[in-house]
Amino acid sequence: MSNVITRTANNVFDWVTARAPGMMPFYRKHMTEYYAPKNFNLWYYFGSLALLVLVNQIVTGIFLTMHFKPSAAEAFSSVEYIMRDVEWGWLIRYMHSTGASLFFIVVYLHMFRGLLYGSYQKPRELVWILGMLIYLVLMAEAFMGYVLPWGQMSFWGAKVIISLFGAIPVIGNGLTEWIMGDYLPGDATLNRFFALHVIALPLVLLLLVVLHLGALHEVGSNNPDGVDIKKGPKGNRWDASKPLDSIPFHPYYTVKDLVGVGFFLIIAAFIIFFAPAFGGWFLEHDNFSEANRLVTPEHIKPVWYYTPYYAMLRVIPHKLSGVLVMFGAIAVLFLVPWLDRSKVKSVRFRGWMSKLALAVLAVCFLWLGKIGAGPGTDPVETIIGRVLTFLYFAFFITMPLWTKLDKTKPVPERVKMHD
Ligand code: HEM
Repeated sequence: MSNVITRTANNVFDWVTARAPGMMPFYRKHMTEYYAPKNFNLWYYFGSLALLVLVNQIVTGIFLTMHFKPSAAEAFSSVEYIMRDVEWGWLIRYMHSTGASLFFIVVYLHMFRGLLYGSYQKPRELVWILGMLIYLVLMAEAFMGYVLPWGQMSFWGAKVIISLFGAIPVIGNGLTEWIMGDYLPGDATLNRFFALHVIALPLVLLLLVVLHLGALHEVGSNNPDGVDIKKGPKGNRWDASKPLDSIPFHPYYTVKDLVGVGFFLIIAAFIIFFAPAFGGWFLEHDNFSEANRLVTPEHIKPVWYYTPYYAMLRVIPHKLSGVLVMFGAIAVLFLVPWLDRSKVKSVRFRGWMSKLALAVLAVCFLWLGKIGAGPGTDPVETIIGRVLTFLYFAFFITMPLWTKLDKTKPVPERVKMHD
């Protein structure tokens, strides 16, 4: 029996290879013959986990689309229908809504890893830029997704965020109306957000992820030591022409990543089953009531992954300046590969200045996130928010300086993990 299966599989394989000879070389180039540094640590799990969550969002999204009604009159009740009447609908919905927050947790950790190990430095600038484009599209994707269930925060969040475009001189009001397709978020807004959320942006996202990985595989992965293994000695046990400190991605890292997937799924399952709204952080309490344009929620605020930027917007009294600072905070991340002048990549061989600066950035981002999630009425918090915003930008603006001044340690020729 097993002989028949093996023979059939080989026949199918030969049949495909005869017609698409490039397929196996492609697989080998990106899997069994993609030689990655052998010293990846925990931080390197988040790339594959981001892929996993992306697949989860697409699969659960397809099932939600089968029952969701994209109209202002029916959207909210169709989500209630999914939650109560569709078989396993509650699970699919919570896997999708919790998945969105998990996506951002994973992506933020993935980005922080890039900052820790200087993975954006030459020759990986393009990998970083494509990553940043993914981050932008992901934010747009999540924003539009949050509008779809047509709860109170869907409606009011959409109104506040789209109205930000009104701060642009001359064209602002026209632009706001054009985006909404109405004077307030309504049926037209919901319809177009649905189209963008379920097809347009996921396609762009998938394309960008392919380009992101393609760009990475052209230059090869960085590693926690930031050592360029291609410049080190050659001759690993699979291919004498490849770096000594590298191992084939498959099966070594596919198996390692599966361990990460196991841990991640346990944590994800706990959240999905026991705290899907995560105390209002993943799904806000107000979004369990249907949108009502006559009743404004007490505090309008976005989901946690936008709150650092939202805090910046709120602590700045002038609307247009606030909008510019908010978008500037994201835009400045694109420039990191050129702002960093350090000779070394990894934080492991950098001096105290880089370590302190990175810690300050992380604290600012988290603290601003907390401020942005609060009611925004405390004047002391507003002052703190301004200081944190200043420090956030100071990190980037002064980066060329402290990366140059910082006393670095000599980078070894080989990664530290070898016998
Ligand atoms: C859907 C979102 C994303 C997916 C699926 C994704 C996927 C991946 C994967 C699978 C890797 C290789 C494994 C690893 O190094 O962890 C990787 C590497 C990398 N990604 Fe992403 N990524 C995403 C978003 C981002 C974002 C937002 C950024 C930064 C702005 C980014 C920057 C990088 C960098 C710099 C590397 C190279 C890391 C190194 O070699 O040290 N990625 N990405």
